[in-house]
Amino acid sequence: MKGGIESKKLHLGVFASGRGSNFVAILQAIQEGRLQANVECLISNNSDAGALSVAKKNNIPTAVIVKSMYASRDLFIEALLDCLKKHDVDFIVLAGYMKKIPPEVIAVYKNHLLNIHPALLPSFGGKGMYGHHVHESVLEYGCKVTGVTVHLVDDEYDHGPIVAQQSVVVKEEDTPETLAARVLQVEHQIYAETLQLFAEGRVEVKGQKVYIKKK
Ligand code: GAR
Repeated sequence: MKGGIESKKLHLGVFASGRGSNFVAILQAIQEGRLQANVECLISNNSDAGALSVAKKNNIPTAVIVKSMYASRDLFIEALLDCLKKHDVDFIVLAGYMKKIPPEVIAVYKNHLLNIHPALLPSFGGKGMYGHHVHESVLEYGCKVTGVTVHLVDDEYDHGPIVAQQSVVVKEEDTPETLAARVLQVEHQIYAETLQLFAEGRVEVKGQKVYIKKK
């Protein structure tokens, strides 16, 4: 206990569909002592995901769980929940996971399930708004500012109480690639910092609003 706030190591289950650079940043933060957590397992819907190789290199248990592998939706959900239980996961991190998390899983991990999005929500979010699509849309719209949002997950895509946001200036000469690279740098910083707030017990959720308790 420190100043009335209880600090507790997070037991993370990371979900990732792609290269996993946010996953790497989280592992780095743990190794450097900036994040009080352990990654208990990495779950992917994509057997080619770079994130799976990262997990294997770091001796982190992996599972590829795809809805189409199961005879019914219930069995798919059971597989997800069994995996999370088997590895004693108490907090889920979506790190470039491109599938919707079933409501049954969200219910078990309510307020213990974070997503990172490469824009300032509620703008440029929702179905189909992921990766380069987001940055292309931001540039097409002529935005001068974009950014990163870390939010708790509810039943809608890119929705739920916002825990942290940081802006990134859009430059006139930006391409989707240069913009994505600058936004990603911020993602790598902010995700671990936000998770650490949860580890320190400093996040309070009241409806749609999140309050961060002072240290
Ligand atoms: C990240 O930019 C993340 O914000 C985005 O996917 C990328 C994954 O990169 N997520 C979304 O667009 C969710 N709607 P990574 O695999 O290198 O971490």
